[in-house]
Amino acid sequence: ESYWLASTPHTNYGPMPGDTTVDVAVIGGGIAGLTTALLLKEEGKRVAVIEADHIVEGITAYTTAKITALHNLIYDHLERSFDAETAQLYAQANQAALEPVADRVKQYNIACDFLRQPAYTYTADQNEVEKIEAEVAAARAAGLAVEFVRESALPYPIAGAIRLDNQAQFHPRKYLLGLAQLINSDGSYVWESTRALKVEDGEPCRVTTSRGVLTADHVIIATHFPFQDSAAYFARMEPHRSYVLAVTLHGPAPEGMYITTDSSHSIRRQPMANGRELLLVGGEGHKTGKADDTAERYARIEAWARSNFPVDDVIYSWSTQDYATFDRVPFIGPAGPTSKNVYVATGFKGWGMTSGTLAGLTLCGAITGREVPWAKVFNPNRVDLAGLPKMAAAQAQVAKEFVMDLIKPTPKDGDVSVGEGRIVKGEDGDVAVYDAPDGTRFAVSATCTHMGCKVNWSPAELSWDCPCHGSRFAVDGTVLEGPAQKRLEPRVVKSHHDETPQQDVRVETGD
Ligand code: FES
Repeated sequence: ESYWLASTPHTNYGPMPGDTTVDVAVIGGGIAGLTTALLLKEEGKRVAVIEADHIVEGITAYTTAKITALHNLIYDHLERSFDAETAQLYAQANQAALEPVADRVKQYNIACDFLRQPAYTYTADQNEVEKIEAEVAAARAAGLAVEFVRESALPYPIAGAIRLDNQAQFHPRKYLLGLAQLINSDGSYVWESTRALKVEDGEPCRVTTSRGVLTADHVIIATHFPFQDSAAYFARMEPHRSYVLAVTLHGPAPEGMYITTDSSHSIRRQPMANGRELLLVGGEGHKTGKADDTAERYARIEAWARSNFPVDDVIYSWSTQDYATFDRVPFIGPAGPTSKNVYVATGFKGWGMTSGTLAGLTLCGAITGREVPWAKVFNPNRVDLAGLPKMAAAQAQVAKEFVMDLIKPTPKDGDVSVGEGRIVKGEDGDVAVYDAPDGTRFAVSATCTHMGCKVNWSPAELSWDCPCHGSRFAVDGTVLEGPAQKRLEPRVVKSHHDETPQQDVRVETGD
């Protein structure tokens, strides 16, 4: 559980009561969905946010919650791979995303630990300083008031950093639960336990849900990975997992929000209600489904934190998944090349608090007809030339996964240590088996229901992760992360130690 979830109450909005008509249907109750909904409501639209489970319990609840226009070394990349105008519009958009948050915190008096902070992208490696200097030049040319510094509040020396003042941090759930309350009145709604099953574009659009049909002039799909993939998003983004520890320190935590040039470590402080402070330390990222040492990743972050800060105790730990586009610019705009009234927001590459708010500004502009200068930069239907080499490499890797799955022998032995996940040969193909400490055996098909790759075990999270496009499944086969929409089917595998048939695992259907 993340600190954000642990320190806020669970929500209990009811489900959609039946067929309903509004002006705008928003699918997904994270930062992109709720921000867009509130901005549209402020413009006089009647909106409905529907969430399959509970709002702000998805990826938004597992962020490090920085709002900043400084995204590693993005501006030099944009200038080189696109052009100076793209870099300027990207900077303008991300800088503009901060103020709507600050304004609403003030206007609606939302107590969410909002705090202005300087943001840093830094390196401790002298060889990386040149990259920082290039980023400073590109970010300045893009219009950001950045500076190159060799000093920071970190308790260890750095070789250099790019610094941008007046950025911000906040408690994302406190902020967004405040937004949800503001949305849910006067003909606008927040509905939980309402799963979108199908979106039909048109005039009006129809969203078929588990609770009836939601009809709207416009639909926004803000479900982290678009649950209805109308533009091959699975092939145009790469999923990454990363890990966060929240630790207490002997002494105060440093001012500022930090990330290394290669994202290997991210640091920022966070006040707690008891007057103490946490230091959030993130990192150890990897492509989803491609690391067999996930359990050690937390240990490595902790070791790094303890060697660099006076750590007292580890209080919380959590992991998260981000999708990154291959050209490193999020997809915000019409859902597909022929979409009229359906929009998506995805591919935030770990900068979801800023990009989610930026998505709200952009989609609100698109729906109300207000011109948004940066819209073309984020248009999901752009030709992502800058990302082509990486996209081709990723597809080659997916093809390799398929071939490896075919030729890699699968053990027939159904014996699995308690607490371990393992793939074994079953009568109907490979089976992903997990033996829980209470003796329950979970056995499901090992074939990802998205496009057929074989899933891998993640010991840190007790999940089956697909190395091809990042779908994740719980041990009982239910979908944790898309693009897969269907669960892994239950299977039966007997252990050599147990000649009695396994106890049936109770699984819900319908996802
Ligand atoms: Fe695409 Fe598994 S996520 S094959």
